[in-house]
Amino acid sequence: MRVGKLAGVLAEAEAELSQCASATDLEQLRVKFLGRKSEIIAILRGLKDLSPEEKKAVGRETNQAKVKIEAWLAEAEVRLAGVASGVTAGIDYGLPGKQYPTGKLHPITRTIREISDIFFGMGFEVALGPEVEEERYNFGALNFPPDHPARDMQDTFYLGEDLLLRTHTSPIQIREMLKQQPPVRIIAPGRCYRQEAISARAYCVFYQIEGFYVDRNVSFADLKGVLTAFAQSFFGEQVQLRFRPSYFPFTEPSAEVDISCFLCGTKGCRICKYSGWLEILGCCMIDPNVMEAVDYDPEKYSGYAFGMGIERIAMLRHKIDDIRLLYENDLRFLRQF
Ligand code: PHE
Repeated sequence: MRVGKLAGVLAEAEAELSQCASATDLEQLRVKFLGRKSEIIAILRGLKDLSPEEKKAVGRETNQAKVKIEAWLAEAEVRLAGVASGVTAGIDYGLPGKQYPTGKLHPITRTIREISDIFFGMGFEVALGPEVEEERYNFGALNFPPDHPARDMQDTFYLGEDLLLRTHTSPIQIREMLKQQPPVRIIAPGRCYRQEAISARAYCVFYQIEGFYVDRNVSFADLKGVLTAFAQSFFGEQVQLRFRPSYFPFTEPSAEVDISCFLCGTKGCRICKYSGWLEILGCCMIDPNVMEAVDYDPEKYSGYAFGMGIERIAMLRHKIDDIRLLYENDLRFLRQF
């Protein structure tokens, strides 16, 4: 009698289902143990030929076996679903991965890029120049007469008779104007060096960004327009500009530009030292002597130039009160940007 085989079927089903390792195998086992051609179904089909008592006993036992096999099938299914989602004993593939620290741009680099982007938008192109510069580009062609005290304004690191570490980015004006004819509209960021006493406000190494434009009929109004657009875009729409007369050998007239303090709006606060204004750059119309030094006809062309200190702008923007922080590479400081 077939019912005698039930114990064997159960043993086989339990062993095979507990070891089943894939969804395909599981489906094959489901067919093997409960499908149309399975032993259990065959027994159930044969019930009709049995006597009423036998039918009852065999029927109950076979149904119990069927329920057990169904439970093992379900168990195997759950186990396999766990494997598929990566959760198995010992290894949890669902755990978050290791965190690798990502690098960030230094606040000076970021400031240079932000400033450059604003000037790109107004049609300026970028130019670079060497940090080790010739005396004639750093001073001579920029209308610093020999032995003029203005050369002392920028305490220079000399490397030789005519070789020095550039004290500003203005020599890039000369190099570019010698290379091309007007119109030239250029922005030139770079590192500069001065032999300064190091303090919270001054460092021996610093960055400037130079800008200049030479063409027919370039006027002081153009300069004011470009600088106002820049300041409003960088510091905010409400910012106002103030031009103060100043002196640079290579501009005539010369001016320094202050912006209204973006923190207090000219009321006076700690950032603006209670003056309401913050100095951000030097500028003005290019001196005819400079035009002549690069063989531009000052009767035909005019131009403006401006130069700003990047650290100063980054410090104002991020309320950094000591320039040295920008050069010490302390990670606790750098991680804040
Ligand atoms: N080169 C000047 C400085 O370092 C700044 C400046 C640039 C002034 C261009 C006028 C025009 O102080």
